[in-house]
Amino acid sequence: MNSKIGDLKIRQAILDMDAYLPPLESRDPEKHLLMDFNESPVPPQEKVIQAVSDFLSRRAHVYPAYHGFLKTLSDYTGVAENQLILSNGSDQGIEFILRCFLEHGDELVMAQPGFAMFQQVASSLGAKVAGPSFPESMEFPAEAFKQSVGPATRLLVLINPNNPTGTSISQEVIRDVLENFPNLPVLVDEAYFEFSRQTAAGLLDAFPNLIILRTFSKALALPSLRLGYVMAHPELIQQFSKIRGPFDVNAAAVVAAKVQLENPQEWRSLTRHLMDEVKPAVETFFRENQVRFHPSSANFMLVEVKDAKEAVEYLKSKGILVRLMHPPLENSFRMSLRRMPEMEQFMSIFKAFLDKRAG
Ligand SMILES: Cc1ncc(COP(=O)(O)O)c(C=O)c1O
Repeated sequence: MNSKIGDLKIRQAILDMDAYLPPLESRDPEKHLLMDFNESPVPPQEKVIQAVSDFLSRRAHVYPAYHGFLKTLSDYTGVAENQLILSNGSDQGIEFILRCFLEHGDELVMAQPGFAMFQQVASSLGAKVAGPSFPESMEFPAEAFKQSVGPATRLLVLINPNNPTGTSISQEVIRDVLENFPNLPVLVDEAYFEFSRQTAAGLLDAFPNLIILRTFSKALALPSLRLGYVMAHPELIQQFSKIRGPFDVNAAAVVAAKVQLENPQEWRSLTRHLMDEVKPAVETFFRENQVRFHPSSANFMLVEVKDAKEAVEYLKSKGILVRLMHPPLENSFRMSLRRMPEMEQFMSIFKAFLDKRAG
């Protein structure tokens, strides 16, 4: 193909990769029940909306400054302010951490399949993603993970709980990896921490090679504002701050996040509802209907049906969006949890699909 930009020296690593294009095209929050991106089923509380609109009317013309917020975040996480750095979504955290450690030809080790952005950013740097596959049980392959570490490994990634499998990794396994590889950075992605209630934050002081990533996009319901943060040893935070731009993080996101953290009742009770009421009900429904699912520590579930594509299309025709998985995950879709009335709607429509298929 004749290219108009053929003489421009684009890096080979970029030419070799594809864009990450999640299926956003026909997604309409007015029309569909969104169960495909692990989002909150409801908008953030009214106080957040008011604080953001007040901020926009008074301060949108001023460059952002975040210092006060690090104190709030420190209170929330129990981690010192100098162990924290904000990011523009945790995607940007992934980006500056990988840029800090990986060069062309280097490897990161991660159990697969994992969250797609790791592959994306690694590819852009000319680095490779190595690591074992999850077994059929979807339990974390701890031994195979350690054995995948080789001379080219420069970063270990533990996604806890993992997207898209929902698998959790025990704190003993995380500690074991940190102890076995003291000279390698170990990134623990805790995007779903508020759902799993498991964190490695208590290990930060003992392990200077530990880096933890979190987001305001899931339980805290702010994905379109783009805010995440990284917790690590202060000297690592200083290195990351050289890569992140001084104003990359949206000030409106910080205003919203502060209100969410200072008023946790609503999102905490929603989180409990999803995990302690909705999830067991959906699991019972799947068991009663002989549908295979994988136990998940997050606000989503991986479901196996032999005709996953038809199931996803059927649900879509009834206004429900779930995410069809691709190889190596065969015959599966991932569905996010919503509140009980909406999940009852899902269950009744999915039951109709199962009955139609059986009949
Ligand atoms: C495991 C994991 N990490 C990170 C992210 C990135 O989230 P965000 O960039 O919205 O903070 C996601 C989003 O789905 C995720 O599933």
